[in-house]
Amino acid sequence: MLRNYDELIDRVLIDEESLRLKIKQLAKTINEYYRDKDELLLVGILKGSVMFMAELAKNLDVDLDMDFMVVSSYDQNTYSSGNVKILKDLDTDVKGREVLIVEDIIDTGYTLSKTRETLLNRDAKDVKIVTLLDKPERRVVDIKPDWYCFKIPNEFVVGFGLDYDQLYRNLPYIGVLKRSVYEDNEEEN
Ligand code: IMP
Ligand code: MG
Repeated sequence: MLRNYDELIDRVLIDEESLRLKIKQLAKTINEYYRDKDELLLVGILKGSVMFMAELAKNLDVDLDMDFMVVSSYDQNTYSSGNVKILKDLDTDVKGREVLIVEDIIDTGYTLSKTRETLLNRDAKDVKIVTLLDKPERRVVDIKPDWYCFKIPNEFVVGFGLDYDQLYRNLPYIGVLKRSVYEDNEEEN
């Protein structure tokens, strides 16, 4: 079934070309930072970071290894909670490693603060954070990314890896989800 995205997306917030250009630009800064350091380990937080991680990694030219974690602070809705769980752990030992956590969006900050703390407790040499999107208005935990691509207003967005109820990750742009999509659902729950 083909989807009519006009029914779902209120407006495109960041188009494909802007995403591509900004990620390329940010990769230059990250390349400079890691140029003379030990081998980098990119840790992608599944599933939201996949598109960003792929696009970023294509533009990095330092030696790097990739691994993934599933960390969840969400139930099946749009609300975050402080109850952060590791649902799939890394295969890699991070001890002594230069780690860069790659995330789709920082919202309340629960997910990333817990993830960073976990990796530091495992004696990573350094743990930095890069996020595609930052929604600073919603922050509960005091955490800032080391690098970000775009700051966005307090609206629920989907696309380029980000989902609503596991859908719409495939959109090639970042779009604001129509409120009616999740408000209808909340009434049913
Ligand atoms: P935090 O723990 O509240 O910072 O939540 C981070 C996670 O919540 C992200 O990895 C996303 O999966 C999800 N999230 C937060 N805001 C949005 C949004 O606007 N759209 C889609 N997912 C979101
Ligand atoms: Mg998500």
